[in-house]
Amino acid sequence: MNHFLVLTAICIGFPAVWGLGDEDIRCVSSSCKDIECDAVPDKCKSNETNAGIYMLSPDICNCCDYCLEYMAEGEECSVGDPANAKHTALCGPGLTCVPDDGEIDGTCQKMSTNCALEQQSFDLRRQNGYLGAMETRAECDDDGLYGAYKCVPGQNCFCLHSNGSRIFGEANYNTIADYMSCECSRAYYDAADIIGRELHPHEHFRCDSTGSYDRIQCINEQCLCVDALDGAPTFPNKKLVDLEDISNETLSCYSDELSQGLYYKKCEEEYMIIHKDIEGKKNESG
Ligand SMILES: *[C@@H]1O[C@H](CO)[C@@H](O)[C@H](O)[C@H]1NC(C)=O
Ligand SMILES: *[C@@H]1O[C@H](CO)[C@@H](O)[C@H](O)[C@H]1NC(C)=O
Ligand SMILES: *[C@@H]1O[C@H](CO)[C@@H](O)[C@H](O)[C@H]1NC(C)=O
Repeated sequence: MNHFLVLTAICIGFPAVWGLGDEDIRCVSSSCKDIECDAVPDKCKSNETNAGIYMLSPDICNCCDYCLEYMAEGEECSVGDPANAKHTALCGPGLTCVPDDGEIDGTCQKMSTNCALEQQSFDLRRQNGYLGAMETRAECDDDGLYGAYKCVPGQNCFCLHSNGSRIFGEANYNTIADYMSCECSRAYYDAADIIGRELHPHEHFRCDSTGSYDRIQCINEQCLCVDALDGAPTFPNKKLVDLEDISNETLSCYSDELSQGLYYKKCEEEYMIIHKDIEGKKNESG
C-alpha cells in the first residue's frame, strides 16, 4: 500500500508527462508483472535481531522486496559513490563505515557520536562495577543520536533533543506505559533550530505536558483533532472548525479541561493580542 501511495504522489506531481509518449508510465498493479527481482539477502530473512532493514526498492514502481543486510562491527564496508550498483548491505545500528586513509573502502566501526560514546562509557563502567544507583544506559537511534526521552527510575521521564539536552515534556516514571513519543516537542525544537528563534503560539503545533501532540490543534484560527503520537489529522475528511466555535459539539476530541471555546491559554491569548497588534502596525507603516 505504501508503495502505491508514493507512486501516486509521483504521478500526480508530473501529470504533464502523461501522454507524451505512447508508453503508459503510470504505476498500476500490472506494472510489476514482468519485473524480475534480485533475491533478498539470506540474513534479512533470518530471525536474528538487527538482521537488516527493508526499504522501498530503488527501481521504477518499487516492485521488489528490497532489504539491506546489517554488517557487524569490523566487517568490510565501502562508503561508495553514487555511480555504484544498488547497495546490498549497510553497517548495523550504532555502526558507521570508517574508510581507510584516502580510500572509499574500510570497516564498520562503532559511531563516535556523543550518545554512542555515552553508551560505551556506561558499558565499560558496568563491566567494572562503577555504575551509580540511578544510572541508565542512553538510548541512541540508528544514526547515533539521542533517543526521544530519558527516565530516572522511580522518579520521572523527560524528553530529549537529539543532541541530548533536556527539552519540554515529562511524565511520572510510574505512569508512562513504556514509551513516550516526544515527537511534538522534538519537532518544535527542530523547527526553532532551523528558523533560529523561538516560535509564536500560532506558528507551531501545541504539545501536551508529555511532549506529545495536543489532541486539538488550531492553525490560522482553524481547528481540528489530531493523533497525539504523530500529529496526523484524526478525521482527515472533516471540515476545520473556527477557533471561536470549538466545543464538545463541533470537535469530538474536545475535553472539558479546555475552558469553553478557548484554545489559547490565558498567557497565549494575551500574547496573540499583542502579536496581532504589532503585525497590524507593521502593515500600516508598510
Ligand atoms: C531462529 O531460527 C532458528 C533456525 O531457523 C531456530 O533454531 C531458533 O530457535 C529461532 N530463534 C528464535 C528466537 O525464533
Ligand atoms: C541542543 O539543542 C538545543 C536546542 O537548539 C540547544 O539549546 C542546546 O544548547 C543544545 N545542546 C547541546 C549540548 O548542544
Ligand atoms: C456538551 O456539553 C454540554 C454541557 O456540558 C452537554 O449538555 C452536552 O450534552 C454535550 N454534548 C455532547 C455531544 O457531548
